[in-house]
Amino acid sequence: MKILVTGGAGFIGSHTAVELVLEGHEPVIYDSLVNSKASVLDRLEMITGYQVPFILGDVRDPEMLDSVMEGADFDGVIHFAGLKAVGESVSRPLEYFDVNVGGSVAVLQAMLRNGVNTLLFSSSAAVYGDPEVLPVPETARIGTPANPYGRSKLMVEQVLEDLAVPETRLKLGALRYFNPVGAHESGLIGEDPNDVPNNLMPYIAQVATERLPLLYVFGDDYDTPDGTGVRDFIHVVDLARGHLAAMRFLVDHPGLHIWNLGTGIGTSVLELVSAFERVSGVAIPYEVIDRRPGDVAANYADPTRAQEQLGWRARYDVDRMCEDTWRWQQYAEKLL
Ligand code: NAD
Ligand code: UFG
Repeated sequence: MKILVTGGAGFIGSHTAVELVLEGHEPVIYDSLVNSKASVLDRLEMITGYQVPFILGDVRDPEMLDSVMEGADFDGVIHFAGLKAVGESVSRPLEYFDVNVGGSVAVLQAMLRNGVNTLLFSSSAAVYGDPEVLPVPETARIGTPANPYGRSKLMVEQVLEDLAVPETRLKLGALRYFNPVGAHESGLIGEDPNDVPNNLMPYIAQVATERLPLLYVFGDDYDTPDGTGVRDFIHVVDLARGHLAAMRFLVDHPGLHIWNLGTGIGTSVLELVSAFERVSGVAIPYEVIDRRPGDVAANYADPTRAQEQLGWRARYDVDRMCEDTWRWQQYAEKLL
């Protein structure tokens, strides 16, 4: 399949591009590089032996999207491009709605204009808010996302739902990611935040290399086994493979389809810290501070639907996630 990968230079997109190439597909990356680096393209070539075509562009630019899609015969779009910093979404909500919602609408409009019928969208477990049941299935009540970022993801799911009604030929998928971590086993690509990381795993990894002095654990008084937050960490390569499975499914399934991509296993903040220490052999100093506003105690997936419909399941455990993150983080220090 020939697939336009918006946001393909980013963390999840770059790992998905690798898996697409390895399965014989033809990804074309479209990215503004607002949160990624062009050098990832060379590293993709080092991993796959193939130079993935790259187009510098913004998903909010309809003319640019047309010029890319026109006559190019794409079989589908995997739409990763978006902004994802939860805290920033609170201080700059319009930017988040513009890029995440406006950008998604612009991509869908360009698809309609150019006869591209398949789209896979990066949604988030954030749509569950504080989940009503654990593990949380796709059928659970959609919660109230705690921030503009989460709301922007929910809004795009609603756009897809409404669009699927009149445009019956469209094949639309939304993947609700849980907590993507880890890196490609080569250690050549991984999560590379420009600023101080918001998320737990990259923060731990930067404490391990001593770029950051210590980890702040946001609360140890939750109603969880050790009092710290519990999440469903999923290896980014497992996540990437989930996209391939979903694209295969969509080929003969019009309509909107929604899947959780998680392992189904909850891991606490302190359990992740211990796993990282064990795997890397490096001590991670930490200090417990107040809860972070908007955080829920626990969120982990019921991944049954993806297992049954897509034949997909996560393979890698938390130790492997830490091992690959650590290999990548040591390489990333040299890229600085
Ligand atoms: P990322 O920031 O590494 O990748 C996103 C890519 O999109 C970047 O390369 C960035 O340059 C590009 N981009 C941003 N705005 C753009 C625009 N206007 N036009 C073109 N390109 C643009 O993030 P990621 O972790 O790879 O996330 C990919 C998608 O998955 C995002 O939509 C994100 O919201 C979603 N998601 C991520 C997580 C997570 O924890 N990483 C969880 C749930 C959902
Ligand atoms: N945490 C810390 N210290 C840190 C960072 C995080 O203790 O420095 C804790 C949090 O309080 C939480 C857990 O680690 O209990 C995980 O936090 P992350 O920020 O890594 O991840 P979140 O679950 O808050 O959010 C992530 C993505 C969102 C996505 C959501 C879906 O960042 O984009 O998963 O569940 F929407």
